[in-house]
Amino acid sequence: MEERAPSGGRSPRAARAGGPAPRPVRLREVSAERAPRLPTGIGELDRVLGGGLVPGSLVLLGGSPGIGKSTLTNMALGNLAAAGRATLYVSGEESAAQIRLRAERLGAAALEVPVLAETDLDAVLATLQAERPEACVIDSVQTLHSAALESAPGTVAQVREVATRITEVAKRQDTAVLLVGHVTKEGALAGPRTLEHLVDCVLQFEGERERTYRTVRALKNRFGSTNDVGVFEMREGGLVEVLDASARFVGEATQAPGSVVLAAMEGSRPLLVEVQALVSQSELVPPRRVCNGIDRNRLALVLAVLGRHAGIGLGTSDVFVNVVGGVRIDEPGADLAVALAVASAARGVATDPSPLACFGEIGLTGELRSVAHPDRRAQEAAKFGLAAVVSPARARTLREAVQTALSSGQRAQRAA
Ligand SMILES: Nc1ncnc2c1ncn2[C@@H]1O[C@H](COP(=O)(O)OP(=O)(O)OP(=O)(O)O)[C@@H](O)[C@H]1O
Ligand SMILES: [Mg+2]
Repeated sequence: MEERAPSGGRSPRAARAGGPAPRPVRLREVSAERAPRLPTGIGELDRVLGGGLVPGSLVLLGGSPGIGKSTLTNMALGNLAAAGRATLYVSGEESAAQIRLRAERLGAAALEVPVLAETDLDAVLATLQAERPEACVIDSVQTLHSAALESAPGTVAQVREVATRITEVAKRQDTAVLLVGHVTKEGALAGPRTLEHLVDCVLQFEGERERTYRTVRALKNRFGSTNDVGVFEMREGGLVEVLDASARFVGEATQAPGSVVLAAMEGSRPLLVEVQALVSQSELVPPRRVCNGIDRNRLALVLAVLGRHAGIGLGTSDVFVNVVGGVRIDEPGADLAVALAVASAARGVATDPSPLACFGEIGLTGELRSVAHPDRRAQEAAKFGLAAVVSPARARTLREAVQTALSSGQRAQRAA
């Protein structure tokens, strides 16, 4: 038995045609050389990737039109090129001249990146094999097409074919590939979701085009956690990392009625963001509920609990809630911030102190429920001078929290 050495995981094809069955290999005996990662030099992006691009891996970067996908990928390749790595930027959307114009805005490093403006898959693969870059960007996966298929570029069959064939080449020659993908209005990656299964890492580039802040988060990552988020700002010179996002958001908080600061967790990182609400008399039945940056259903739940358990009925009011800066918050800890912002707006009094930091989940019976990492949230708030945090540790119910947050504001208003 022992004389048959493990085959290293690869089974000879002949084994299938009636020959001996392929033998599984104990994991300990599988050789796994860990190739060093390729840091893109964009700290926030590297963090979300788990330390940089993994050679031979495929990363899908999805985002809505104009969000800055080409800018980010071009900057990343520029940094890699400046670090002496072989790179290639394939664009099926823009001409080389257009790409150059963007790169000029991004600085000297970005201009060093070799580009190929091409939409034919076979041509792109030929160049990939000839150039053997260490890192390659395909912008975008929906614009390439394979002549072997009759369907139009961007269709399910085409996108799958493009991704599969690029994967083959990338794995074989250890090229790290960043596939740029368009996102539909509904937020799904246009084309097949199967693409998400095929790639090693799915990054989502979010934010609103008109706003300055954008976030990159991992929806899937075979080589790292999906907890981290990178915050960027679009400036004249390209995307700039926002290292101290909390300071930025707290500094900009208005301190007016309807404004509170949410001590949120973006994955493993605490982040302070301002949540604003506006409540006005409605002329519509049913009244309007508009929100940006939080889930609509969550807003409905918070409004129902505010009315039923905290004495703030909004049945005939329009309610608008906005997370400032285009940030999207997707965690139950945001409930209390939404509730306090709405309560403050409805009563027309600012919180005390203002800005006031808070976090906590709201239960259907009006209780406050604890959420993950209360210490880290409170520490982050304290770091920016917001020591008096309203949280489940300080108030047991939403009613108590509203009283705590608005108490002296009401006195001030009565005195006036
Ligand atoms: N000079 C500039 N100063 C600041 N921002 C700029 C400047 N030029 C372009 N932008 C911003 O860059 C964005 C375009 O970035 P980019 O082309 O990287 O987006 P994209 O996601 O690749 O778009 P598409 O989906 O069209 O490919 C614009 O929406 C604009 O906000
Ligand atoms: Mg683009």
